[in-house]
Parts: sequence; C-alpha cells; structure tokens
Amino acid sequence: MKNLTILHHPLVQRDLTLLRDKRTPSNQFRSVLRRASTLMAIEVTRDLPLKSTIVATPLAKTTGYVLSRPVVLVPILRAGLGLVGGFVEVLPDARVGHIGLYRDEQSLKPVDYYFKVPKNLREAMVFLLDPMLATGGSLAAAITYLKKRGAKTLVCVTLVAAPEGIRRVHKEHPEVPIFTCSLDKRLNSKGYILPGLGDAGDRIFGTE
Ligand code: PRP
Ligand code: URA
Repeated sequence: MKNLTILHHPLVQRDLTLLRDKRTPSNQFRSVLRRASTLMAIEVTRDLPLKSTIVATPLAKTTGYVLSRPVVLVPILRAGLGLVGGFVEVLPDARVGHIGLYRDEQSLKPVDYYFKVPKNLREAMVFLLDPMLATGGSLAAAITYLKKRGAKTLVCVTLVAAPEGIRRVHKEHPEVPIFTCSLDKRLNSKGYILPGLGDAGDRIFGTE
C-alpha cells in the first residue's frame, strides 16, 4: 500500500510479540513498549533533513550536521504516551503536544477532550504517535486537528494497524505516511484489532 511502511526490524518484531502476549503484565508492557518505541523512532527518522554546521573537535574544525527542521511529537492520549519516552530518547530537543481522544464504545467514533500543541507547527516535522490504528477514526481526527493548526509535514507512527484503519486514514489524508510494526488481519465486532494486543491504554496503565 502506498504511504504505508512496515517496520520489520527484528528487535521490534521480538518486542511486538512480547506486547501481544496476554501474560505480559503492565510493568513489563511499559518497559518493552518504551524500548520498542526507541527502535521505532530510529527507523522512522531515517529521512530527517539535515543541514551542515562547523564543529571544533579538540584537534581541528570539521563539518558536522544538525537537524534542519524542528521536531514535534504528538501522542494521542492515553496510549500514545507509551511511545513518547523512546522518541524523546533519540529526539531530545523535540517539543511535545498532546491530543486527548477516546473512542465511544458504542459508536466507535472519537470523542475529543484535550488539545495542546506547540506553536509554529508549519515548519515542524510532526510525528503523531498512537500504538493502535483500528477504525482509523482517532488518527484521522488527530491529523485534521493538526492540519487546522498549520501542520504541513505529518508522519503517523503506530505499533499495530488494521487494514480498515489504514484505508480510512489514506482516504481522508492520502499524503500522510503511516509507519506500523504490523498490518494485522482485521477488526472484530467491537472494533478491536485481531490478533492485536488488546486495549493498549489499559495494558499500559493497568486499568480495565
Ligand atoms: C485507542 C487507541 C487509539 C484508538 C484507536 O484509544 O489508543 O487512540 O483507540 O481506535 P480507532 O482507530 O478505532 O479510533 P482509546 O479510545 O481506547 O483511548 P485510551 O487510549 O484513552 O484508552
Ligand atoms: N484500541 C486499542 O487499544 N486496541 C484495539 O485493538 C483497538 C483500539
């Protein structure tokens, strides 16, 4: 599929398997997700633009590089918070916005409750973080919000995606690339991803 990249890194796939395992308790789920998100961050930043700079080593001056555009991370609450630590690890200067959305259990439509993002999104590379892409309603709504706030370069990073969700986001925002660690089979009748990993927010935060 156009604009969809699957992260096949072996260590990501190993961690995803631990995250899928229903026996993995919250404390381990959190630490594995954090490690996986560091690996994901490395993979999805391969094409970040650089500009050259001069750096003085203890012996001589040479050419070095800095990122040429600011980076903004935007986790979708709650589960997206589980990806922030790993991204900040490799992007320590990133500013972080938050979008609060939850899915109504009956309609599966996203309900928004919080929105706070840094100014000047126009120049930034914006990484939208949410481990789960199910119907795609939450991610599509979050992209719409960010575009209204001026975001021009958006990248979505998910851990597990359903084909239904990919189709929806591609339809509403065809130019926005999506990275995921697995394209799963489908949604069940309650809108959960199969095989998926269950409710990511509940598994991260120990809520039921
Ligand atoms: C989960 C997940 C996504 C959304 C995906 O959030 O983190 O944001 O569902 O589903 P969709 O693609 O069908 O919109 P949830 O609504 O469970 O909220 P939570 O993270 O606060 O638990
Ligand atoms: N949200 C989750 O946390 N898991 C799913 O499978 C679908 C939506």
